[in-house]
Amino acid sequence: MNKSIQQKGAHVTTRRLLDMKQNGEKISMLTAYDYTMARILDRAGVDVLLVGDSASNVFSGHSTTLPITIEEMIYHAKAVVSGVHAESGRAMVVTDMPFMSYQLSGEEALRNAGKIMKEHECDAVKLEGGRVIAETVKRITDVGIPVMGHLGLMPQSIYKYGSYRVRAQEEKEAEELLEDAKILEQAGAFAIVVEKIPSSLAAEVTRSLTIPIIGIGAGIECDGQVLVINDILGLNREFHPRFVRQYADLNTVIEHAAKQYVEDVRQGTFPSVDESY
Ligand code: KIV
Repeated sequence: MNKSIQQKGAHVTTRRLLDMKQNGEKISMLTAYDYTMARILDRAGVDVLLVGDSASNVFSGHSTTLPITIEEMIYHAKAVVSGVHAESGRAMVVTDMPFMSYQLSGEEALRNAGKIMKEHECDAVKLEGGRVIAETVKRITDVGIPVMGHLGLMPQSIYKYGSYRVRAQEEKEAEELLEDAKILEQAGAFAIVVEKIPSSLAAEVTRSLTIPIIGIGAGIECDGQVLVINDILGLNREFHPRFVRQYADLNTVIEHAAKQYVEDVRQGTFPSVDESY
């Protein structure tokens, strides 16, 4: 957290999220990948901005989140932190640790989490996985770096599962997920994202844990909700999953604006005298 952000006072912290859960106040979280969007989202009052590794999909056009590198994540995160800092400084910024930046060893995970925190002064990191990464989560939180967990559909494991279908629909997998959530809490995670799981299971996880549970495709009873910004703005024409509520159709707005510009340039009506020096 940046000093001038602290001075602005209302910065959302891990403590504040815990209080929100205890007071029954819902937590809003959206992804952000750049300075301009981060400014708008902070101004809009979004509690948490996630520099998601979904940048691999929506920014770079890869079909999965696997290719994005730690340097690319830091590039996006720096821009987002600057954007929040340029506005009210209220939003918490959480950065995804990319695929293979924390799986090899606890030491490497700690080094990379430290690199992310030091290079752009975000508030926390997010890791995918349950009991398998519990020791790593403990190691990172023990040195003072807040960790957000991520269970259910974990896009970094897409090749293992082979599909983006709803997770933990069967009892055994549901029990394992609940147990994983408890293990992450014990390891020191301050919040957990649960993605694409039945609402009833998400509700049970939310009730069973003290830390906030943030859902994506996980029903209404979670402590908060997260969505990908490009999805709610309708930037991606092809992607309309059931759990996304689209609040705008920027794809059409941008295409229309760009077409008008092209037309004006071709017709020689841009720039006008007023738009020239
Ligand atoms: O990378 C991402 O955008 C995410 C959200 C889907 C939670 O992890």
